[in-house]
Amino acid sequence: MTTSLDAPSEFVYHVHHIPKNNPILLSYLAGKFASLKLNAVQVEKAAFSATFASESIPSFTSRIEKLKLPHIHTFVAVAYPNSTPPSEQTIDQGDFIGCLTLIGPIPKTTYEWPESGGRAIGCDEEETKWQMTGVYTSPNHRGHGVGKLLINSACEFAVQQSGEKASRVRACTHPLNKKALELYLKLDFERAGTCNRYEAQKANEEVLPDRETMDPAVWFSKVGPVLERTSSGA
Ligand SMILES: CC(C)(COP(=O)(O)OP(=O)(O)OC[C@H]1O[C@@H](n2cnc3c(N)ncnc32)[C@H](O)[C@@H]1OP(=O)(O)O)[C@@H](O)C(=O)NCCC(=O)NCCS
Repeated sequence: MTTSLDAPSEFVYHVHHIPKNNPILLSYLAGKFASLKLNAVQVEKAAFSATFASESIPSFTSRIEKLKLPHIHTFVAVAYPNSTPPSEQTIDQGDFIGCLTLIGPIPKTTYEWPESGGRAIGCDEEETKWQMTGVYTSPNHRGHGVGKLLINSACEFAVQQSGEKASRVRACTHPLNKKALELYLKLDFERAGTCNRYEAQKANEEVLPDRETMDPAVWFSKVGPVLERTSSGA
């Protein structure tokens, strides 16, 4: 799947879904994706729990294995000079300047946070559930609609994968990240209660420290806004 946006800029942007079935292409894309993620955690220290140190650890093979996991869907925004012919605006060309990971479908028993204050969650026969994480665009490409394009592309993918079922996409934001919160609300996400850092990192499939070392005020305070976008089935 690929989605495009013609922005008033010297670049043209596309969002591509990283394919899992071409091993040579995947190893090339894994390298470019790793570089973007390393950049993201340095540029946006407050928005991500991963750090440059933690993001540097995974080996080349484990990065590829993660991209191949059936429930991990990786979307990248690619910038091309606007002179690039459409036939060359492919995932193996241009520069990776944005990304998003969609996890799912997730069973209700794993997805549900009973004390979140959010809305009732439907059963798995009626709706699919997804977790959106790692939304990032490079600073020199911000304000051109790339963040919106990434989020809308991932939500459309969730709808497509759901067939006749409804779909529910969730994102957890940092309490101080007003820009991200505004962005989700503009894109038809609704507030769905709050979560704590432990719940958010677990749902985002991030590495967690030993439970005994977690400061309860940091890890178990329900202060992070939760956003959900729901779509009815076909
Ligand atoms: C949040 C983020 C992904 C937005 O990316 P982007 O490519 O600039 O997004 P868009 O161009 O689609 O803009 C979407 C909205 O973001 C806001 N926005 C964009 N640029 C902005 C700026 N310079 N100042 C303030 N708000 C801005 C606006 O609300 C904009 O909507 P509008 O165009 O209707 O006014 C990007 O700023 C980012 O990577 N931030 C750091 C990581 C992060 O916070 N991720 C979210 C974690 S939950």
